[in-house]
Amino acid sequence: MKQKIVFATNNAHKLEEVAAILGDGFEVLSLREIGCDTDIPETSDTFAGNAMQKASFVKEHYGYDCFADDSGLEVDILDGAPGVYSARYSGGGSEANMDKLLLNLTGKSERGAQFRTVVALLIGKESHLFEGIVRGTIIEERRGEGGFGYDPIFVPEGYEQTFAELGSEVKNSISHRAKAVKQLAEYLLMTNDK
Ligand code: IMP
Repeated sequence: MKQKIVFATNNAHKLEEVAAILGDGFEVLSLREIGCDTDIPETSDTFAGNAMQKASFVKEHYGYDCFADDSGLEVDILDGAPGVYSARYSGGGSEANMDKLLLNLTGKSERGAQFRTVVALLIGKESHLFEGIVRGTIIEERRGEGGFGYDPIFVPEGYEQTFAELGSEVKNSISHRAKAVKQLAEYLLMTNDK
């Protein structure tokens, strides 16, 4: 029988990606599919805290085993900003967020950064955290049309193109999210075998 597990998201792209990695042994349910239309609070100042907050909400209110993710961009010279505030850095959308970041890095040659994802898993009585990081550089101007968020200004280590230029296949094989989800999948597949 398939093991039911909730992914605390309604992002169809994320759901599809995770369901594909987990394969046939699992039925991955979205928030919508369990009848949850609450905007689950994310009030922590860490990725792990926010991910755990979302997973706990589902476990407490709906009783399902659950995992949740939280991600963002951390820029070295800005002491890890925008970090957990990546989505709301400027108060506007992605374009305004990139404008603000580029402005804050004007004239700076130290442009190292990383994307980080933390996945929190609550299964039975256990809780686990999985982390994925991809290091790279913030360039001075946008390049590329693909992806979302800060993708047009982030060049991952070992590449010359931005995440927005590399395309989803390459991005999904090296991204912070892919790395964290792969660890989650390895853990779930191991416990599902037993
Ligand atoms: P989330 O937790 O995955 O929803 O990510 C929060 C915010 O971090 C997004 O709204 C983006 O601003 C930024 N972010 C996270 N992952 C990525 C990525 O893969 N590319 C670009 N921006 C990202």
